[in-house]
Order: sequence, then C-alpha cells, then structure tokens
Amino acid sequence: MFALINLSYLAAAVCFILGIKGMTRPKTAVRGNQIAAVGMLIAVVAALLHHDIISYAAIIAGMLLGGAIGVWLAKRTATTEMPELVASLNGVGGGASVAVAASTWLYAVNATGAGSAGWTAAILASIVIGSVTLTGSIVAVLKLKGNIGDSRNNRLWHMVTLVTVIAALVGAVLFASGGSTNPLALAALVGLCLLLGVGLVQPIGGADMPVVVALLNAYSGLAGAATGFVLGNQGLIITGSLVGASGLILTAVMCKAMNRSLPNVLFGGAFGGSDSSTSKQDEGEFYDGKVKYATPDDLALLLDSARNVVMVPGYGLAVAQAQHAVKELASQLESRGAKVSYAIHPVAGRMPGHMNVLLAEAEIPYDQLKDMDAINPELPQADVAIVLGANDVVNPAAAEDPNSPIFGMPILDVHKAKTVIVVKRSLSAGFAGIPNGLFIRDNSLMVKGDAKEVLQATTSAFKEL
Ligand code: TAP
Repeated sequence: MFALINLSYLAAAVCFILGIKGMTRPKTAVRGNQIAAVGMLIAVVAALLHHDIISYAAIIAGMLLGGAIGVWLAKRTATTEMPELVASLNGVGGGASVAVAASTWLYAVNATGAGSAGWTAAILASIVIGSVTLTGSIVAVLKLKGNIGDSRNNRLWHMVTLVTVIAALVGAVLFASGGSTNPLALAALVGLCLLLGVGLVQPIGGADMPVVVALLNAYSGLAGAATGFVLGNQGLIITGSLVGASGLILTAVMCKAMNRSLPNVLFGGAFGGSDSSTSKQDEGEFYDGKVKYATPDDLALLLDSARNVVMVPGYGLAVAQAQHAVKELASQLESRGAKVSYAIHPVAGRMPGHMNVLLAEAEIPYDQLKDMDAINPELPQADVAIVLGANDVVNPAAAEDPNSPIFGMPILDVHKAKTVIVVKRSLSAGFAGIPNGLFIRDNSLMVKGDAKEVLQATTSAFKEL
C-alpha cells in the first residue's frame, strides 16, 4: 500500500509541474489548470488511503462537501473578485496547517513526550507560518473588500509587529528547547503568531494587496510543506514546496512589473489607493481644459480608415465586463480588412493574468494577444490605439518623470501610436492615484463613458458607415 501511495504522490507531483508549465501560456492555461486539478485529486485520494486516519464514510462525505463548496465558490465569483477568493483559500490552507501541526503535537506529547529536534522545528514552522497566513489573509480579504481602510498609524503597527516577533521568537526557542509540554504554551505561541499576521499585513496599503496575496500564497505552501514534515507525508512536502516556490516567483514577477522592491511593498507604507491619491483640485489643475473629447461616432469614423488597431485593456475593461463588446468591435474591424491586436501589460488589472483571463472569456484568439515586449516596437505603426479602462500601465510619466511614484515601471508605449483614444468614465486616477499626461497629448482623444457602453455604441455607429 505504501508503494502505491508514494507512486500516487509522484504522479500528483508530475501533474502539478505540468499544470504550472501549462499555465505559463494563455493557450495552454485551461488545460494546465485541469491537469493540476487531477493531480490534486490523486494527492487527496492517496493521502486518505491511510484509512486508519478517519473512516471512508467521513472521507467521502468530506470530499463531496468540499467539492460542492469549491464548485459553488468558483461559479459565484466574478473575475474581479478572484484576489479575495485566492486570499481566502490561502488563509484556509494556513489555518489547516496550524490545526494539523498543533493537534499532532498535542497527541504526540500526551503519548510519548517531546519529539526530535527536527520534528519540533517542523511543528514550529507550520504553526508560525500557518498562523501568520491565516490572519494575514483575513486582513487582506477585508482590505480588498474595502471593509477595513488603510492604517493612518503605520508606525504603531510596525511596533506591534516588532514586539510580537520578539515575543514569538522567545516562545519558539522555549518551545523548541523542550521547555514546555504545556498546551497553554502552545496556545500562547499560536496567539502571538496570529497577532503577527495582523501586524504584518495591516500597515500595507489596500492597493498592494494583490502582491501580498501572492506572498501569502507562498506562505501557505511553505506551511503545508512544514506540515508534510510533521506528518511524514511526501505528497504534502512536494505540493507545499511547489506552491511556496511558485508563489515566491509570482511575487517577484509582480514587484518587478511594478518596479517596486518587496520590502518597499511590505514596509513602504500605502502606495496608491486613497492615501496617495491626487485631489480633485490637483486633477483639475493638471488637466486644466486640455483634454480633447470625442464621441463613439467620431471613433467609428476614425476606425473606418484605420488598418492597424491596437486594443489596450486595463482594470476598467474588467469593471465594465466589456470583453465581449471589444471582441464584437474587433470582428467588425477585421471584416473590413483591419489588423487588430491586444496589448497586454503584465500588471494590467488587479491580478496576474487578469486581462488574459478576461479576453479568453470572450474567446479572443490567443495569437492576437501581445505582451508588452512584443507590442511596444509595433505601437508606432498603429493607426489607432484604444485604451479601454487602462490608466497607470499607459502613463508616460513612468518613463519620463523621475519624480513620479511610478517612475521606472515599464509601460505600454501607447502614446507613440498615430492616434490614441482613451475610453474611461472620468478624469479620475487609476490604482497609483496620479494624473496621466497621456490624456492631454496632442495625439490623444478621450471618449468618456463606461467601456462596454462606448464599445457597443461605436460598433453600432461603425456598422452604419
Ligand atoms: P488603473 O491604473 O487602476 O486604471 C483603471 C482605470 O479604469 C481607472 O482610471 C478608471 O477610470 C477606469 N475605469 C473603471 N471603471 C471603468 C469602466 N466601467 N469603464 C471604463 N473605464 C473604467 O488600471 P491599469 O492601467 O490596468 O493598471 C493596473 C494598476 O494596478 C497598476 O498600477 C498596477 O501596478 C496595479 N496592480 C496590478 C496588479 C496586477 S497583478 N494586475 C496587482 C497590484 C497592483 P474612471 O473611474 O475615470 O472610469
């Protein structure tokens, strides 16, 4: 039986690796997800083949209940709510690791006294990382939902964190040295680590939560791997390590695409969101009547003579759920011989791959999606670039203004297209809370309105030309 279980873990690990590989490209992402899900099923069934843990009836009931909750969650969650869902799942993973490690410790201490140093270290890792993940994820979800705002007093939170870290370290050393087999000592350590999770995430700006969620994802994997060592379960060690490593890589990729270091995200105070937003008065002074407005009819006329059109989706496209409307307009353009491409910035939207997922929903062909490095050299040849609810990722200040908070962030060079049409509802700033000089460039026109409504009106006008 053991050989079969270990072989199953190996098969699951291969599925996870193939799944992650598949998810690196839009074309293979769905298949990658399916392969990884099969891997997870194999791993769960293999882990539960130790029927001495609980009865088969309970195992089957748990799988049915868990599966049903998963399907329900997946169906009711909009793509814009994905970061909240992922953060919740991370928290559940961290909490499960703590629960398993703590109960294993209590059981072992009652039966045989303190365990080996390595085993105790694994218990500690699982408890510390799992607890931080649990409460850190709860704070992240509440911030993403806007239920708690950004802290005005970050220094206080950093002090809380420092004191908690010191107390938790002392507790961990006492615990590891076998100083206590008292369950209350374990409860105190868990309590401190839960507070640490709050202290670490609370001072981070709500707008930075997607990066924090990727990091917490890595933590939940590491907690799972540590729990694998506690239980001697190879499947959990492999899965946890893969989640930990891929979460860390994703965190690094997101920081790089925003040109920010991880310490800056974690300890640099709130970035974007309400704290650094430009006031309405500053906005007025910046734009000062310099924005040129157009209508969907004007846009349709412009597109009638365009041969090369680049669509530039951003967060607002997701808010407007305009993916089908953009495809409809693109199909009309193509039917009249124009070439249409989609420029994808790595951090457009609010989660990694946000634009890819959105456009895939409308079955836009993958070969029309061009990443930043591929599309930037082509933008000067574009007759029209249509910016659909994107803002920061097309802000030329990132390349031109050393005083801009986003200076150094790679952007889509939309301003180099022959004509730029910006579709958004107002002159409001995007995520970074700063004005955008693109809107007042000579080659820019703004069509004010919800992205979906503007696209639908443009398509209707275009059809009538
Ligand atoms: P943003 O800079 O956030 O701008 C989005 C724009 O969409 C807003 O200015 C808003 O203007 C407009 N909008 C909202 N609803 C709309 C609607 N219904 N119709 C039309 N427009 C609408 O978006 P972006 O350019 O995609 O940049 C993403 C930002 O998020 C970057 O700063 C990035 O660093 C940050 N970020 C991304 C991630 C990932 S992984 N994607 C993670 C963390 C942070 P109006 O209100 O005037 O319409």
